[in-house]
Amino acid sequence: MDIEDILQRGQQQVAKAEDLRQLDDVRVGFLGKKGELTALLKQLGTLDAAERPKAGALINQAKVTLQQDIEGRKDQLQQQELAQTLAADTVDVTLPGRQPVLGGLHPVTQAMYRIQDIFTGAGYQVVAGREIENDYYNFAALNIPSHHPARAMHDTFYFSDGTLLRTHTSPSQVHTMERQAPPIRVICPGRVYRRDSDLTHSPMFHQVEGLVVDEDISFADLKGTVTDFLQRFFEKELQVRFRPSYFPFTEPSAEVDVQCVHCLGKGCRVCSHTGWLEVMGCGLVHPNVLNMSGIDTEAYSGFAFGFGVDRLAMLLFEVDDLRLFFDNDLRFLRQFA
Ligand code: PHE
Repeated sequence: MDIEDILQRGQQQVAKAEDLRQLDDVRVGFLGKKGELTALLKQLGTLDAAERPKAGALINQAKVTLQQDIEGRKDQLQQQELAQTLAADTVDVTLPGRQPVLGGLHPVTQAMYRIQDIFTGAGYQVVAGREIENDYYNFAALNIPSHHPARAMHDTFYFSDGTLLRTHTSPSQVHTMERQAPPIRVICPGRVYRRDSDLTHSPMFHQVEGLVVDEDISFADLKGTVTDFLQRFFEKELQVRFRPSYFPFTEPSAEVDVQCVHCLGKGCRVCSHTGWLEVMGCGLVHPNVLNMSGIDTEAYSGFAFGFGVDRLAMLLFEVDDLRLFFDNDLRFLRQFA
């Protein structure tokens, strides 16, 4: 019998098996139901009765030996596999962690919050207006009747049903006075729209409207409020001047200039060498406007102001092109995060 041969071949194949699968194939080939050593056992019956015990013992001995070899190789292969996975899955616990990327508020939003903080700190309420208005709220109720030339200056976007995109936040004044009796102290921030687009104009921009209606409100209250606001916003003791102007919804009306935040009045590129920056319109609320909104002009008077937030943000953050605010270029926006 060739037990020795078979065992040797089996042992060689076990040693050569490169993974657990190959090793199992070898086991089946020699020790399985149809394996070579198993076949030998089945042939025992063909031997002489005297030789059977010895041959049986030899075959069993070979089976045990091969089985032990297989177990040994199995251990080796498992160790190898483990070592490989460990090497592949290495984690360097000393590496610094990856930081989550934090966003930031848009500079116009930051300016908006700054403005709201200043006014709410002074007891004002913040009210939301609507971006789609009709002719009455955007014009007529603000003392701009249909023939009025001021309408031409507003470059309005109209919808086919006669509604329009508000050209300023002043309609919020009217909504507020219709809703609420004096004393009124509100600011109305929001988007406004005009058919206008160049270096310093965008078809959508942001305004904040202010409205105060109470007993004995005078131009002095307006001057004090506006001056105080601008100095707090820019955190500088800037000079403020009021130039007579005209708005249909205020009388008297004024335009407000603030000392150039860049050169402090010396004259520079930002202020076109005048030393001053024009920042808002304002005035005492026109009696026609108060009357139309149901406010008793014998008992109450008021002031209103309106300014562009994008322009104030440009001055605050020293940005020289309005369009940068609307390009959404992350390299620009990250500087404000
Ligand atoms: N609504 C005016 C504008 O958009 C600004 C303004 C508001 C002026 C309130 C006076 C009073 O130009």
